[in-house]
Amino acid sequence: MTVTFQLNGERCRFHEDPMTPLLDVLRREKFLTGAKAVCREGFCGACTVHVDGEPMMSCLKPVGLVSGCSVTTIEGLSSGDQALHPLQAAFEAADVVQCGMCFPGMVMSLSAFVRDNPEATRPQIKTAMAGNICRCTGYERIIDAVADYLAVQKAGSQAKEAAHV
Ligand code: FES
Ligand code: FES
Repeated sequence: MTVTFQLNGERCRFHEDPMTPLLDVLRREKFLTGAKAVCREGFCGACTVHVDGEPMMSCLKPVGLVSGCSVTTIEGLSSGDQALHPLQAAFEAADVVQCGMCFPGMVMSLSAFVRDNPEATRPQIKTAMAGNICRCTGYERIIDAVADYLAVQKAGSQAKEAAHV
């Protein structure tokens, strides 16, 4: 059976067992190593990618179940000529990354969260991070960076609105 899906905007085919975890297809077949294989049991979130725009743990997802879907990995998250997604850039600017093992998954989860929750409160940001384990940072600086990012985005939107009044 051949599984066909979009991968970072390009058509992609996989010809082997459709029960192969998407994570293994990405890392071993497509050489996209941003999604990390840490627990492989759905606990840590390090393998998170977007499937049709929603965060999913790729270690638990048989590739056959993404047939016809659009998969985005951390390598394909930024758009246009930007090297980084704006949230990645905010993390870099705030110097929150330590070993970095959790961060691709963290960015995939939180980029979808900030897209869908531009008014999120600090407790809501904490809840959104529940599926992503970080062994280094203590989380607080990541939460600060997300809150700052949302505040900057909001201020930018308000400034644009004011300019059009
Ligand atoms: S490697 Fe997938 S959740 Fe940990
Ligand atoms: S920065 Fe090391 S696990 Fe999160």
